[in-house]
Amino acid sequence: MSEHITVNIDDQEIKARPGDKLLWAALENNIYIPHLCAIKEEKRPNSSCRLCFVEIEGVSRPVTACSRQVQEGMVVKTRSPQVDRLVKTAFELLLSDHNLNCRECPANRNCALQKIAKERGIKLKHNRLKPFNRTFELDDSPDEFALDRSRCVLCGQCVWADRVGAEAWIFGFAKRGIDRVLTTFNNLPLAELSCNECTLCVDACPVGALYYKKD
Ligand code: SF4
Ligand code: SF4
Ligand code: FES
Repeated sequence: MSEHITVNIDDQEIKARPGDKLLWAALENNIYIPHLCAIKEEKRPNSSCRLCFVEIEGVSRPVTACSRQVQEGMVVKTRSPQVDRLVKTAFELLLSDHNLNCRECPANRNCALQKIAKERGIKLKHNRLKPFNRTFELDDSPDEFALDRSRCVLCGQCVWADRVGAEAWIFGFAKRGIDRVLTTFNNLPLAELSCNECTLCVDACPVGALYYKKD
């Protein structure tokens, strides 16, 4: 088998490794596809954020690029009216449960939501969907960092970093649908758990939900 295969994305020929996921092949070639939940090392992505839709020639509906493997000769479009609609709806749904106050947020100017809004020309504000207005208690119990769930986009990056990187199993998710929430083991404050403040979870968070106190 050839070491590389050729894929056409937005009229650009790129080389990818057989078995690569389309999302990572595109990103490695500087072709941006919105994404929050994808983890490169994860074999079976859960594709929960629904932001990485693309169109593949010959496939009737848009598919998530984080779950689709590249194939020789694949022709992909990262933009189309249908893709843009799906991404915008998923993004607006995320924002409707988000404490949007960028000026006071530690992630301001270094935030994946801001990047997606900029790249896709979507307004970063509460839009047609009514805000959920859930309230969460701030967990600032660790010395180095804090967790503000009102800015959590439920991407799972911290859960992966905590389990695979730190092998601590402190984070997880509870409930389903609009009630879904990032939890800690037994719902305890982070300082009461076996957290050694390695801060891998903080570095993995793409928004301002897990943040360093000193920033
Ligand atoms: S996480 Fe991003 S979008 Fe949300 S308030 Fe912070 S900077 Fe703004
Ligand atoms: S705290 Fe950050 S990394 Fe963890 S699920 Fe929420 S947004 Fe993702
Ligand atoms: S990155 Fe593909 S669904 Fe989240």
